[in-house]
Amino acid sequence: MKEFNTLYLIVDENIAVITINRPKYLNALNSEVLIELSEAVDLIDKDPTIRAVILTGAGEKAFVAGADISEMKSKDVLEAREFSSLGNKIFSKLEKLRMPVIAAVNGFALGGGCELAMACDLRIAGNKAKFGQPEVGLGIMPGFGGSQRLARLVGNGIAKEILYTGAMIGAERAYEIGLVNRVVDSTVVLEEAKKMAQAIAAKSPIGISFSKKAVNEGTNMDLEHGLSLEVELFGSLFYTKDQKEGMSAFLEKRPATFQGK
Ligand code: CAA
Repeated sequence: MKEFNTLYLIVDENIAVITINRPKYLNALNSEVLIELSEAVDLIDKDPTIRAVILTGAGEKAFVAGADISEMKSKDVLEAREFSSLGNKIFSKLEKLRMPVIAAVNGFALGGGCELAMACDLRIAGNKAKFGQPEVGLGIMPGFGGSQRLARLVGNGIAKEILYTGAMIGAERAYEIGLVNRVVDSTVVLEEAKKMAQAIAAKSPIGISFSKKAVNEGTNMDLEHGLSLEVELFGSLFYTKDQKEGMSAFLEKRPATFQGK
């Protein structure tokens, strides 16, 4: 696989792990990280063997401590809009990958880091992880989707509290409000994310990818249109080898081997 300056991409047995690697700056997202993340997502998208992705940060301190403040400081209005638009475009591309993406949050997930975790399908947090959108303390607001995805994940009331106060919340509170799926000991975050990825990789990739599409697209529709989308997707799965294999394996009392076709 391609070598990057600011991240690692490792693919092992159907699972890709992206590690953002600027630990000296708590993995802050500058333009180079964003562009390399975009390239990594493209490579994953083109690899038919990958069934789940884990996204994490290098070092023990941070997942990602936000967009890079030293790079942002001197931007003018146009450059700031471009930066926000670039981040949003890349996070949306990550969100739309056909396979699930798990954020393994090993420390600070602030600003753009919290936004990056929210663009993933699932979030596993270490018990020392801290989440927040501290942008209002910098005289700005979230620019990589935080004002939209946070409200959709935890509801308007709690989202507004997090956005207006800029205060950090711990992993347990993040779990209580539905911002993370699970909290585990901080020493086993990646290990637990890999176990979850392996469980996902053993199931039908096409069934999972259609479930992802139904949730992602359906939640932006009214219920009636969302249910119609489900009918369409459910029906078209009966063209697939995975449906034939899954149901035959059940009736023959053997484990299914899915091809994602
Ligand atoms: N951008 C640039 N550099 C950052 C950074 C960031 N977001 N976060 C941390 N760093 C750098 C620090 O400047 C420091 O560098 P130096 O050693 O060269 O001084 C290094 O990483 C280590 O950080 P600290 O010394 O500050 O570590 P700490 O343990 O004392 O504090 C922290 C940790 C509370 C996370 C603190 O670093 C912090 O508050 N970081 C900024 C968090 C933030 O405001 N994020 C939002 C950014 S704006 C954004 O993301 C907008 C958007 O939506 C697009």
